[in-house]
This record gives sequence, C-alpha cells and structure tokens, in this order.
Amino acid sequence: MSILVLHGPNLNLLGQREPEIYGSSTLNDIDQALIQLSAELDAKIQPLQSNHEGSLVDAVQSAAKQHQGILINAAAYTHTSVALRDAIASVGLPAVEVHLSNIYKREDFRHHSYIAPVVVGQISGFGADSYTLGLRALVNHIRSQH
Ligand code: DQA
Repeated sequence: MSILVLHGPNLNLLGQREPEIYGSSTLNDIDQALIQLSAELDAKIQPLQSNHEGSLVDAVQSAAKQHQGILINAAAYTHTSVALRDAIASVGLPAVEVHLSNIYKREDFRHHSYIAPVVVGQISGFGADSYTLGLRALVNHIRSQH
C-alpha cells in the first residue's frame, strides 16, 4: 500500500517557524518518522511539500494512479482552498487531514476547514504525532475497506 503525504504552504519552515505553536520537529523529522512507521505498517509513503495551491491540486489528481490514500496537512489552504477540497473529492481516494496545532483553539479563521467534509477524519493538536496517528488511522481505514 502506498500513501501520498502532502504538506502545504510554509511547512518547509517547520523547526524554525513559530516553534511555540508548531514545535521543534523539522519537516524532514516528520517525514522520517512517517517512513519508519510505514515500514512497521507494511506500507510505503511518498511525501511532497509545496507552497503552491495548484501543485497540491496536481498531486492529488495524479494520486489515484499510484496511491491508495492521502495524508494531508493543507496548512493555510485548509481554510481557503475550494480547489483542493474539490480535488480530494474528485479522486475518490480516502484521505486523512492532520494539523500540528489544535486549529479549534486558535484564531476564528482557523476553525473552518474546507477539507474536513471530504476526508475520512481529522487529527489536530498533537504536534508531529498528528501525522503518525493520522497515518495509522488511514492505513487501518484502507485495510478495513478490503
Ligand atoms: C496548520 C494549521 C493552519 O491553520 C496553519 O495555517 C498552518 C499549519 C497546523 O498544522 O497546525 O500552516 O495546518
């Protein structure tokens, strides 16, 4: 099983970006933890970070050819992108939405996710663990469907 892991805008700056909110793990640390976990789960991941909405849409559109699911932290596009939401809805792959911070504890504009209605579920607020929890949940979900 292969999972596309999408990281949205500004997540390339993790480790130095507002560490009091997002923690000290770098994006590479997160990807390494996901690679290790995927091996334990007998799965594979392909991580991709982009600051560009269209590149994320392109990656979602291409995902069905090679992947069985999508783990996504759309970052700020969570709160703005109908295009990304429509792409996820269009490909029909199960997706799990993750956030490092608890978006419901923060500014009002972060309380709404355009992505949430088209994913299996959302994990928010556990720092880097949101990703590993999300990967476990997604792999379990996909296996339970077969
Ligand atoms: C985030 C939360 C978003 O509101 C924010 O724009 C991000 C990161 C998180 O992982 O906590 O860039 O998705």
